[in-house]
Amino acid sequence: MELCDDNLTAIIGLVRKHTGIAMNEHKRVLLQGRLLPRLRALGLSSYRAYIERLATDRAEVASFINSVTTNDTAFFRTPAVWRWLEREFLPGWVARGETRPLRIWSAAAATGEESYSLAMTCLEFAQRAPDLRFEIMATDISTDALATARAALYRGRSVERFEQDYPALFRKYLRPVAGGFAFGADVTGHVSFGEHNLLQRPPRAGWFDLVMLRNVLIYFDHENQERVLAGAHAAMRPDARLVLGEQESITRLQTPFAFEQAHVYRIGGEK
Ligand SMILES: C[S@@+](CC[C@H](N)C(=O)[O-])C[C@H]1O[C@@H](n2cnc3c(N)ncnc32)[C@H](O)[C@@H]1O
Repeated sequence: MELCDDNLTAIIGLVRKHTGIAMNEHKRVLLQGRLLPRLRALGLSSYRAYIERLATDRAEVASFINSVTTNDTAFFRTPAVWRWLEREFLPGWVARGETRPLRIWSAAAATGEESYSLAMTCLEFAQRAPDLRFEIMATDISTDALATARAALYRGRSVERFEQDYPALFRKYLRPVAGGFAFGADVTGHVSFGEHNLLQRPPRAGWFDLVMLRNVLIYFDHENQERVLAGAHAAMRPDARLVLGEQESITRLQTPFAFEQAHVYRIGGEK
């Protein structure tokens, strides 16, 4: 079923309204491919009828968001970030002698690989620093992605790459179960999950010591990138760090952040 210009414009507007994601007419084929299964599931015969349905059916809005978001992720994505965590950030945190838990926000957590990579990294580090306590909050706008993250059960490419690149961690933290490999409570117990739209106020203000906001800014225009970064800032403690994705730069944006090293930002002016 062909998505005509008018309906394409309306759907691009709805994507922006509900997720902040900026799309243009080049996404016609992608949107058709993603939304056609919804039309079929609802027994609708036109995109116009689907657009009308979205105006009145809140549950369908959640399915729409699930359909139009891209939830690609990987365990230990961007190895340099994980080396920084292990060699600089966590030693620095432990050296401060804080008695409270380290609080990490995995914003735009997708299907949870990043959140569990964080938990495994902290658990491994805690072998050398047994006083380290930590908690990870994982949020995303996609309820489908969050359901996968909560289940903590992985299969296919996601685990194959993990096993290949990190065999010792794979064997230590994942166990085979029906349908894939699952993390146990030793890992999942450190992670909590929640639905959150990055364009809205952060789940907790002034709370987090580390915010992972990776590979999501790329979907927004400058205006929404600044809005999302303002939300991340509001979530952070004054001495917290923000981590962005490999292809994300904030140099052309108005933000309260200063570059610290590749992928890593802190609040404040130049160093
Ligand atoms: C490509 S994934 C990145 C996952 C992970 N952060 C990583 O770097 O591997 C982008 C995620 O951003 C989420 N997302 C898109 N718009 C969002 C919004 N407005 N609020 C919260 N999450 C959003 C999508 O649902 C998707 O799971």
